Amino acid sequence: MAKEKTTFTCTECGGTSPRWLGKCPSCGAWNTLIEQVAEAGPGKNRLSTPQGYAGLAHAQAVMPLAAIEAQDVARTPSGIDELDRVLGGGIVEGGVVLIGGDPGIGKSTLLLQAMDALQRAGLPTLYVTGEESGAQVALRSRRLGIEGSQVQLLAEIQLEKILATVDATQPAVVVIDSIQTTYSDHLTSAPGSVAQVRECAAHLTRMAKGTGIAVILVGHVTKEGALAGPRVLEHMVDTVLYFEGDTHSQFRLVRAIKNRFGAVNEIGVFAMTEKGLKGVSNPSAIFLSQHSEPVPGSCVMVTLEGTRPMLVEIQALVDSGGPSPRRLSVGLDKDRLAMLLAVLHRHAGVACMDQDVFVNAVGGVRISEPAADLAVMLSITSSLRGKALPRGFLSFGEVGLAGEVRPAPRGQERLKEAAKLGFSVAVVPKANAPKKPIEGLTIHAVERVEEAMNVVRELG
Ligand code: TYD
Ligand code: MG
Repeated sequence: MAKEKTTFTCTECGGTSPRWLGKCPSCGAWNTLIEQVAEAGPGKNRLSTPQGYAGLAHAQAVMPLAAIEAQDVARTPSGIDELDRVLGGGIVEGGVVLIGGDPGIGKSTLLLQAMDALQRAGLPTLYVTGEESGAQVALRSRRLGIEGSQVQLLAEIQLEKILATVDATQPAVVVIDSIQTTYSDHLTSAPGSVAQVRECAAHLTRMAKGTGIAVILVGHVTKEGALAGPRVLEHMVDTVLYFEGDTHSQFRLVRAIKNRFGAVNEIGVFAMTEKGLKGVSNPSAIFLSQHSEPVPGSCVMVTLEGTRPMLVEIQALVDSGGPSPRRLSVGLDKDRLAMLLAVLHRHAGVACMDQDVFVNAVGGVRISEPAADLAVMLSITSSLRGKALPRGFLSFGEVGLAGEVRPAPRGQERLKEAAKLGFSVAVVPKANAPKKPIEGLTIHAVERVEEAMNVVRELG
């Protein structure tokens, strides 16, 4: 078969070049040209001549929105509750899911478990492995205790062969593990390059939409934390799931960051065990480290991930630094940390200018909601002063640049969960203070950062 002609297109300005160049000839951006299959036929620049719009293509019939029948999407639960929760109920016909995460975090394990459950429920499945041999996957299935599995396996990395096999076997769900190892014959660039990843994902998406076969793509994460190359994939697919958690700890979170068929920001919680991933249905206390005595630099917050509140310990270490002190955060936004330090200085008179400041959300969890602000500030002050917060203490609330403390959504639920787990003192935004007292919990409502600091000093 003759190779299809390819061109190189700039991801910034859309300019093209017949060869790969380091610098885009049109806009001058560096390293932005990626390979694409060239559009066949004439009229590459057909839109450049306004008088040429008509006549090149036939006008299509349009329809008012109201006349289009909306159908509820049919979902098939995978049988793994925590996965179904993030998917918004289950696998959708013709839906494309991208699941990303660090190597070794459990993507292949989870998908093999899910495929086996679906196969047992009577849905034909196909697992395409490009990273491991069939024997390796079989070994994993043995470990998972599903050795009698009827999941169909294909060890293949060439897209055209994969598509032909899918066509011939007609499964209901296909897993591509991983999209980075898949390559198309039509492009000369190496597997894993942005061009290949994009081309393969586009073909698979088209196949899914055309046939109603659900496709699950596994994607790796680069050092920068983006799905390698596949930032470009995020808009192509229907659902983007992201594995997080510390590979050294037992717990894993699966977070939905985009879902055309369900709520985002829902999370699934799993524990990696000897026999694969097990769902954790009550995850509220897994991100607390167990101190026998309260220690300086630790403050517990309640974060609301999706529909379930979870208690997470925020740790800070403030230590005298050199001429250019370091600010480091793990699991929390770094820019936000700089902002909080400035607010702390200006509005509460707590200066960390000459100190190294490290903050960490325990257990490898990532917290993106600003409700962590108050807990971050309190743990920093606690570490700076070398004074632990009281036993059973927790705090949450967003802090603004003017030093005001803003409410967090659904404060009551957060407080109730904390009370259930035996927490006894809370510093929260005024608007989150409950009207009726919560049993066992003393609540201090504050409007400003300095107030929060004063409350803590008095408690101490
Ligand atoms: P894996 O699913 O291969 O990760 P990924 O596909 O995301 O790269 O997970 C591999 C890790 O999980 C590996 O370090 C071993 C561990 N593991 C268990 O602890 N228990 C198990 O039952 C299995 C199958 C794996
Ligand atoms: Mg894998």
